Amino acid sequence: RAFFRPLQQAAPPSPTKRNTKISVIGVGNVGMAIAQTILTQDLADELALVDAKPDKLRGEMLDLQHAAAFLPRTKIRASTDYAVTSASDLCIITAGARQIAGESRLDLLQRNLSLFREIVPPLARYSPDALLLVVSNPVDVLTYIAWKLSGFPPNRIIGSGTNLDSSRFRFLLADHLEVNAQDVQAYMVGEHGDSSVALWSSISVGGVPVLSSLEKHQIGYEEEVLESIRKAVVESAYEVIRLKGYTSWAIGYSVANLARSLLRDQHRIHPVSLLAKGFYGIPDDREVFLSLPARLGRGGVLSVANVHLTDEESAHLRRSADTLWKIQQQLGI
Ligand code: NAI
Ligand code: LAC
Repeated sequence: RAFFRPLQQAAPPSPTKRNTKISVIGVGNVGMAIAQTILTQDLADELALVDAKPDKLRGEMLDLQHAAAFLPRTKIRASTDYAVTSASDLCIITAGARQIAGESRLDLLQRNLSLFREIVPPLARYSPDALLLVVSNPVDVLTYIAWKLSGFPPNRIIGSGTNLDSSRFRFLLADHLEVNAQDVQAYMVGEHGDSSVALWSSISVGGVPVLSSLEKHQIGYEEEVLESIRKAVVESAYEVIRLKGYTSWAIGYSVANLARSLLRDQHRIHPVSLLAKGFYGIPDDREVFLSLPARLGRGGVLSVANVHLTDEESAHLRRSADTLWKIQQQLGI
């Protein structure tokens, strides 16, 4: 402070802008990929990190702080005590077991359910007005559990869901059509992972509906190629886990993309895991979270887009809902 001299006759400080605070729970591969993307994209004034391993946590905090000279100014704090998350605008949960090669996301449920009982209640207590964004797997069931354990209204509980699967889908379609992935509009919905549903009927590139255009020009539209792209999306995570042990970069960008839409009130449409009962023919008694294209803003999930689904796509989505509901019934929560 002694290095600076105050201005004479300075005006009183102008009302300070309210800080944006994001907390990331779990500083493993996924948590750190998210944290570093949040920092480089200047999404928060304050970033709080929590993990159960104090040394790893402090090491990660210091390593990020040492990059301060190259980043927008962000206060980075870390603790095993949830008080550090107090008054967050957005809490992102990435803590928990991850798949080893050959394991499915649903295989992680029992292990991660007990962690969520430790994590969600203190988060909700310290940040009662926050948005909760769940990333740990199986993300759809754990988003439902976070809803139950937090007592938050459903619009403030979001699972990262198929925002990632949709990005993989757009990458593969773009690669096949030799265009930029940002010009491909395409959604995967439903369960994140094995039973996700590709919405072929609504894919467009540069505003041109892909399937109907191919059919109109009677180009044999290689159903096999399309099916192999869908399969490749579902297989993506398994392949990366087999090759490098975990997935991290794509989920890091995907979650930062969601954080921007939420905290900057962007009203952009993202397929995310939300309370899906009553939408697209999912019965009202099915309290399940699964991904549907939703308009996101500062209030969380603002509304659900009315995308056209074929009968087959709707039936597939309802089957996903049934599967998740049956799993939840066995949890007794
Ligand atoms: P990791 O093993 O690298 O990190 C997990 C971290 O959680 C560790 O640092 C561990 O100390 C911490 N942790 C464990 N118990 C805790 C507790 N009670 N409180 C606080 N922290 C605790 O795992 P990774 O690769 O970061 O994956 C994390 C989760 O994210 C997994 O469940 C994985 O399946 C999921 N994931 C989800 C994706 C999605 O699209 N939804 C994409 C990629 C991973
Ligand atoms: C993913 C994780 C493993 O990358 O759910 O899809």
